[in-house]
Amino acid sequence: MSRRPPILIAIGLFCASAIHAQNAAPTPAPATLTPGAGMEAVQTTCTVCHPAAMITGKHLTRQQWSDLVDQMINKGAQVSDENYDVILSYLSRNYGAGK
Ligand code: HEC
Repeated sequence: MSRRPPILIAIGLFCASAIHAQNAAPTPAPATLTPGAGMEAVQTTCTVCHPAAMITGKHLTRQQWSDLVDQMINKGAQVSDENYDVILSYLSRNYGAGK
């Protein structure tokens, strides 16, 4: 007869509750954009269809942001050539990969 050492059960319970706590309270994406150059362009261009939190929770490379902005343009976002770079720089500076 082998009995499971109680310490393993304790660790198991601890992990289970930690995972549960994480699921119950995910860190919400900030509701507002980080202030800085280009913020206004993003605010005006990108929050027409969805809240800023759609953007602030993301962390993408410049290339990925570029692809995403292209997708948004396909969905109907109005981005002038001049604003494209401003928006892309703002996004990759504030919501870059690894930030
Ligand atoms: C014409 C409306 C419209 C505009 C303007 C718009 N989007 Fe979107 N966006 C959408 C729609 C529709 C979705 C998909 C929503 C969903 O999946 O529930 C979306 C989704 C997203 C997502 C989530 C994508 C994912 O895969 O998780 C991000 C990030 C995003 N938009 C960023 C932007 C940015 C940055 C801009 C400004 C350049 C922008 N959006 C402008 C319509 C728009």
